[in-house]
Amino acid sequence: MGRSEDELTPAQIVAELDMYIIGQEKAKKSVAIALRNRYRRKNLPEELRDEVAPKNIIMIGPTGVGKTEIARRLSNISGAPFIKVEATKYTEVGYVGRDVESMIRDLTNISVNDVKKEMSEEVETIAKERAEDGLLDILLPPISFPKKGTAASTGSGSTGIGAEEKRRKTRERFREMLRKGELDEKVVEIEVKQPKTQVLGMFAGTGLEDMDTNLSNMFSSIFPEKKKRKKASVKEARKLLEEEERDKLIDMDKVVKVAIERAEQMGIVFLDEIDKIATKGSTQGPDVSREGVQRDILPIVEGSTVTTKYGAVRTHHILFIAAGAFHMSKPSDLIPELQGRFPIRVELSSLSTEDLEKILTQPKNALIKQYSALLQTEGVELDFKPDAIEEIAKIATFVNSQTENIGARRLYTIMELMLEDVSFTAPDLKNQIIPITVEYVRSKLKNIIEDKDLSKYIL
Ligand SMILES: Nc1ncnc2c1ncn2[C@@H]1O[C@H](COP(=O)(O)OP(=O)(O)OP(=O)(O)O)[C@@H](O)[C@H]1O
Ligand SMILES: [Mg+2]
Repeated sequence: MGRSEDELTPAQIVAELDMYIIGQEKAKKSVAIALRNRYRRKNLPEELRDEVAPKNIIMIGPTGVGKTEIARRLSNISGAPFIKVEATKYTEVGYVGRDVESMIRDLTNISVNDVKKEMSEEVETIAKERAEDGLLDILLPPISFPKKGTAASTGSGSTGIGAEEKRRKTRERFREMLRKGELDEKVVEIEVKQPKTQVLGMFAGTGLEDMDTNLSNMFSSIFPEKKKRKKASVKEARKLLEEEERDKLIDMDKVVKVAIERAEQMGIVFLDEIDKIATKGSTQGPDVSREGVQRDILPIVEGSTVTTKYGAVRTHHILFIAAGAFHMSKPSDLIPELQGRFPIRVELSSLSTEDLEKILTQPKNALIKQYSALLQTEGVELDFKPDAIEEIAKIATFVNSQTENIGARRLYTIMELMLEDVSFTAPDLKNQIIPITVEYVRSKLKNIIEDKDLSKYIL
């Protein structure tokens, strides 16, 4: 939801980011300010509000130091529609490949899904009730009473009421059994709508999924919604019916309206690998098309209107965060107009051994926490000694310096290799505590670290 974006001060945003990302203070500060600026903008008088452009950011830094992670966490915090795209994925208009506008269509889809999910939660209770009633109708089909006015009608009044009362009671008894899950395995036949995507699915790969215009609507009217009879367990049927009731209860027009508004006002596009499309000088070969991609991206970043299947989406206030290592190129190699649209540059530093040590233990999703929790499910407790963790960080730094510096990603390969044996034998180690000491770490990794060629392949 957009609520938290309104509530969080820059300092609070940084504090939230701190829970996942070690160091990189400058980058955290910049993104926190950018997010807060959108909140400030919302509170401006209308004529000014449209004038204020988002302060787009370029994050510059080597691989594996937290660029993507910062952007991803930022979107979680703000509840903003977020999409991560690789700049290299796009091709210039007219060439085969994805056109840049698809990033806005994708962002809009994400926003629609988010809003739809929120609204589903609101109608959840009613949908559940209706699905339950629907199920009871299937389990106890309504009896069609003989028409009134037939010969038997006289005198049948009292027995009719009695029968109805009995039926009602049976129905309530069934309802109770249903709620207790006693009927879960019973098989019933239900009628469900065939999802539209399935119909459109046959065009997969033809680019039609991309043609998010009225055309796809047209296709769905050519292939009208089909109802399909289907056998399913009560458990399954309940889920399907709930889904259908939920869809009926949700006001899609409202969903789309809110979603587009949210995408326009709060959307964040993370443009990864921007450095790979930055080139200068050459007028031939692939460079020309890279510059073409930059020229295509420009109007989207500058503010334009993109047609999506949900309607027109204005990109003027979408926040763009670009990132790249910029080893072979510099931000100044981007075309000037694009540089101007990314006024904020932040550099992320390479990670020190101390950083790596903290990354292993401190973030909410820290690797050591992950591995410990995983093995705990088998009743095995890993007891990491502090100096062993330090040793892992040192080894990561060493391997990064010897082969290629891939930042914190190195920790993943090292941890995996180091714990391979425990992982493999865990089912036989139930109720044991495995001390992870410096010696343990060294013994598991020694051979590979000493052999540079080997570590290139394995770590
Ligand atoms: N500063 C950090 N604090 C905590 N974890 C980090 C940090 N840097 C990297 N990581 C971890 O390493 C992984 C890779 O980081 P990330 O995806 O952010 O790299 P990146 O900077 O985007 O690199 P690339 O340029 O290759 O895309 C992440 O999953 C994250 O868990
Ligand atoms: Mg990345």
